[in-house]
Amino acid sequence: MTAVRFEHVSKWYPRYHQLVRGFKASLLHLPETLRSFKREQFLALHDVSFQIQKGETVGLVGANGSGKSTTLALIAGVLVPQTGRVEVKGRVCPLLELGAGFHPDLTGRENIVLNGILQGLTRREVLGRMDEIIAFSELEYFLDQPIRTYSSGMIARLGFSIAAHLDPEILLIDEILSVGDLHFQEKCRDKLREIKTRQVTIVLVTHASAEVRRLCDRAIWLQEGRVVGTGDPDSVLARYEQSPCVVR
Ligand SMILES: Nc1ncnc2c1ncn2[C@@H]1O[C@H](COP(=O)(O)OP(=O)(O)OP(=O)(O)O)[C@@H](O)[C@H]1O
Ligand SMILES: [Mg+2]
Repeated sequence: MTAVRFEHVSKWYPRYHQLVRGFKASLLHLPETLRSFKREQFLALHDVSFQIQKGETVGLVGANGSGKSTTLALIAGVLVPQTGRVEVKGRVCPLLELGAGFHPDLTGRENIVLNGILQGLTRREVLGRMDEIIAFSELEYFLDQPIRTYSSGMIARLGFSIAAHLDPEILLIDEILSVGDLHFQEKCRDKLREIKTRQVTIVLVTHASAEVRRLCDRAIWLQEGRVVGTGDPDSVLARYEQSPCVVR
């Protein structure tokens, strides 16, 4: 069964401009100004098509700016494509930017409840998993402090612990594991292996090739918003690692 399907997906962002002629002159030449704005849209994903099967673990690799986070945001439904279709079957649990989904003034414990409810669990169900989540995060002594006082590694710990214990069907992870310390990274790896055995679909974005080789069944390589390689991690990574770095 297909869990994620992209069909000819393109996504562009507006480019931010300085009004080179100044505000007044730009208004006086409004049609021309608008034309230049339109011209300068930035194509982050260009005609991207791929499928991810249920239970697959896929590593999304590519240089900075190649469109990996944009792809995850489209799967999560945070963004919609301008052209093409994104089809997702299953409950998505997104671990995107660090701290996204957390309220900075609420405590760690309150944020666990908030996230659980946002994922569709009842308050009682979340409370039932609270001890497990806290134990995994190893943040017992900080759980009653507001999140804004947490270090980035602590936020990553809490985010991963919550996601891992809320029975995700599709788990999206954007880089955040690399923020955790070595001990926690190892623990996350073990947890991901366990989650994999439960037929959860995992999409992992990371610049750590070793992680993709160790955990993923397949890799998808993005370059300048296009898929330029897909297949078993070793062969895709071998090509990616030898390619010149194209950042945009
Ligand atoms: N909100 C936005 N507005 C304008 N341009 C954006 C926006 N978000 C992303 N982009 C552009 O789209 C391109 C793809 O960005 P994206 O964040 O998907 O890359 P990435 O592969 O995740 O990179 P990295 O490895 O650095 O995280 C980049 O060139 C970026 O500048
Ligand atoms: Mg990114």
